[in-house]
Amino acid sequence: MRIEKTLSIIKPDIVKKNQIGEIINFLEKKGLKVVGMKMVHLTIQKAKRFYQEHQNRPFFEGMVKFMCSSPVVVMCLEGENAIKLNREIMGATNPHEAKEGTIRKIYGKNIEANAIHGSDSEEAAEQEINFFLKANYSINKIKN
Ligand code: CDP
Ligand code: MG
Repeated sequence: MRIEKTLSIIKPDIVKKNQIGEIINFLEKKGLKVVGMKMVHLTIQKAKRFYQEHQNRPFFEGMVKFMCSSPVVVMCLEGENAIKLNREIMGATNPHEAKEGTIRKIYGKNIEANAIHGSDSEEAAEQEINFFLKANYSINKIKN
């Protein structure tokens, strides 16, 4: 078991429904610790950069527009096997295919408005945390 950090983004659908607190509560109850957090309203340019791996996919433009439709909450989460654990807690990309009890199943509306983002690998986690939170400055060390 190893302590990892991962990046999570509470997406505009949740922010618009006033459910930010519920999502944070959900993640904390599953054992993930919030060690960095900020609310940002992404520009189209920044959202395109963040999701550049998908730039040639048909859903890209619509997804980017959706991600910029309200502020989002960006968090660095820490815990044992945090990257995989967070992906499990989130559930499948399409809420209709996500397992019962996952965030996307409970809170997601469709494949675009699917509540939450989570890094999918160690490399992505490191890169995404730096993209938003510049690891050394915006991440706290919290002793239990
Ligand atoms: O977020 P996740 O890593 O589960 O999925 P992804 O394949 O990396 O896709 C990134 C995001 O693009 C998803 O979370 C969806 O919001 C969006 N997407 C979409 O709108 N339509 C698709 N057919 C696939 C993904
Ligand atoms: Mg992904």
